[in-house]
Amino acid sequence: MRSEQFSYQRHQFFVEGVSLADVAKAVGTPFYAYSAADLQSRFRSYEAAFADIPHLICYSLKANSNLAVGRVLSRMGAGADIVSGGELRRALLSGFLPQNLVFSGVGKTKDELILAIRKKVRLINVESEEELRMLNDVASSLNRPAPFSLRVNPDVKAGGHPHISTGTPDNKFGVYHKNIFPLYLWAKKQRHLLPVGIQSHIGSQITRVSPFKKALAVLLDLAGRLERAGVPLELIDLGGGLGVSYNDEEPQTPVDLARILVPALKNTGLTLFLEPGRSLIAQAGILVTKVLYRKGAGPKHFVIVDAAMNDLARPALYDAFHEIVPVHRSSGTKVRVDVVGPICESGDFLAKDRLMALPRQNDLLAVLTAGAYGFSMSSQYNSRPRAAEVMVSGGRYDIVRRRETMDDLIRGESIPRGLV
Ligand code: LLP
Repeated sequence: MRSEQFSYQRHQFFVEGVSLADVAKAVGTPFYAYSAADLQSRFRSYEAAFADIPHLICYSLKANSNLAVGRVLSRMGAGADIVSGGELRRALLSGFLPQNLVFSGVGKTKDELILAIRKKVRLINVESEEELRMLNDVASSLNRPAPFSLRVNPDVKAGGHPHISTGTPDNKFGVYHKNIFPLYLWAKKQRHLLPVGIQSHIGSQITRVSPFKKALAVLLDLAGRLERAGVPLELIDLGGGLGVSYNDEEPQTPVDLARILVPALKNTGLTLFLEPGRSLIAQAGILVTKVLYRKGAGPKHFVIVDAAMNDLARPALYDAFHEIVPVHRSSGTKVRVDVVGPICESGDFLAKDRLMALPRQNDLLAVLTAGAYGFSMSSQYNSRPRAAEVMVSGGRYDIVRRRETMDDLIRGESIPRGLV
């Protein structure tokens, strides 16, 4: 489903009243464009849906960690979910308050734990017994408190693709729910460890809310038993994962999620944390690319564009569907095309067997629903400078990341002395 901020005006595709053709003229292609208004309205729907209970919506920075995206959300009072020292830096620069930061991830290093404690993040989501011991060592040596949750593996199946399903014991995430209890009891005895919450994240691109209900039941049961054992918790963090519509999916919404979570949490005294990424930013972003060449081999047409799998990896990586529309709408007859990039791999495609009016050379195409896991997963593969990013807001746009240059490609590299 298309965001209402992206629409045609007299056959030209616009974002919040800004012509994408004009942006392309000024910044070149490919580029990502984000609508601040779309992002804001999606954050507001989360806020409204959970208004009846104490909560914190922690935007999952990995979906799109551009400083401007973070700034839009931090200004609205969002928290952030981070998974590395790098994301911690980005989160602080974006204006997120340390007390609104949740540090997740299955393999935080000692240095990252030190940084998290020094910066006083609100919550560290611990994923193994060994990490918990490391956190204890680090907190003791700094003589600082370490507020933490254990990430529970609740054994709930959910998620749109095997690579993004995380809630069952056959993947690497969390601590199996039956092994949680002794860890909290041990932590309770350590001077610097503060068991404040319990967490799970069951997967991504989840289109039905029922798996969240199952995960919540597991967490509430554990929280109740912990309280009776003398370890009262303050918060439950249910992770992210709500899906969006890329094609014809009809995902349930934050309102549907609230309908099952709010009644269950209302009288518990627990604060709810959520870590949405995709459902906030995916539909607020598009990737604009230019047609370089066309060619036809029999019934098949190839449209070769200047964006590739290094810019948007999702089709190659997950066989993901992204709708593609022309920036200038034409009325040609529709044919079946593969939209492919210039990279030397057959896996380098943005769309396969797509029915569309055959675009012409130099036409612009917009790849929709690309705001999440688009730029943030991009690379320089084939020594391609990464794309520019622009943010549109209130009828104007700003370049929020300049296109990389040839110098950026080799930054930090050098030729060994013996080979000069
Ligand atoms: N919290 C944790 C601990 C996570 O691991 C993730 C995503 C999120 C929150 C945010 O989930 P979301 O609301 O965005 O579904 N690259 C893949 C998605 C990977 C998701 C990884 N974890 C894709 O492009 O589909």
